[in-house]
Amino acid sequence: MAELDMTRIPQHIAIIMDGNGRWATERGKDRSYGHQAGVDTVRRITSECVRLGVKYLTLYTFSTENWNRPATEIHALMGLVLTSLEDEIFMKNNVRFRVIGDVKRLPDEVQQKLKETEEHTKDNKAMTMVVALSYSSRWEITQAVKDIIEERTRPWRLGRQHVESFDITEDLINQHMQTSFMPDPDLLIRTGGELRISNFLLWQIAYSELYFCDTYWPDFSEEDLHKAILSYQSRQRRFGKTEQQVEENTEDNI
Ligand code: IPE
Ligand code: IPE
Ligand code: MG
Repeated sequence: MAELDMTRIPQHIAIIMDGNGRWATERGKDRSYGHQAGVDTVRRITSECVRLGVKYLTLYTFSTENWNRPATEIHALMGLVLTSLEDEIFMKNNVRFRVIGDVKRLPDEVQQKLKETEEHTKDNKAMTMVVALSYSSRWEITQAVKDIIEERTRPWRLGRQHVESFDITEDLINQHMQTSFMPDPDLLIRTGGELRISNFLLWQIAYSELYFCDTYWPDFSEEDLHKAILSYQSRQRRFGKTEQQVEENTEDNI
């Protein structure tokens, strides 16, 4: 396999970790067994991303739509979130933990654990791992619009009881997204063979490079991650410009 160009490692990788259920079913096991195996993959891929110098790793862990799954599966997933958030793993890798999503819908003890882990890891600098829990992009965008309106029409903002259209800019919307603390993903990976986005980061992936693979998440290896990054590195990101413009100003293309 070709060598990775260490000067062009994506700064932000987002992953739709799909295929746990099918992986388990093919082995005659319960779907939860697949989710458990998926946690091991998260650990391996997190370490590898840190080693490669990735700065942000965003993992789609539980979507708004996943609330429609059988209660037993939801319960097992919540249990896994609780048990897998071990400080030691974040400390060992110098990884900061952040959560995005409608966390208020999560069980109290999960909310508590998430808060603690964010707090304990807040000074870690190597990489930020962002876990999307009870997250969907349409929920996030709706929430951002509500926040903007509420913020602009608070009673103490004298004389400004309504939102003017000129207030609304892309920057303002970005600031009200759950992801406001980080750059947009450079590379979005989906494992498990489906070719869809399933309500993940719709706003933020406007110019992300997309990579789909058939491998189920529990089987996704460090080598598979390298393949995805190699594919990313073989592409020219033009952001609307021509090939020639980009080549003349290669700095902008990194
Ligand atoms: C992804 O794996 C993890 C979650 C959505 C929680 P799935 O559970 O969707 O696995 P498949 O797609 O059914 O194989
Ligand atoms: C997407 O996977 C959500 C997560 C990986 C958390 P799903 O398995 O829920 O997606 P669909 O339903 O196949 O689109
Ligand atoms: Mg799935």
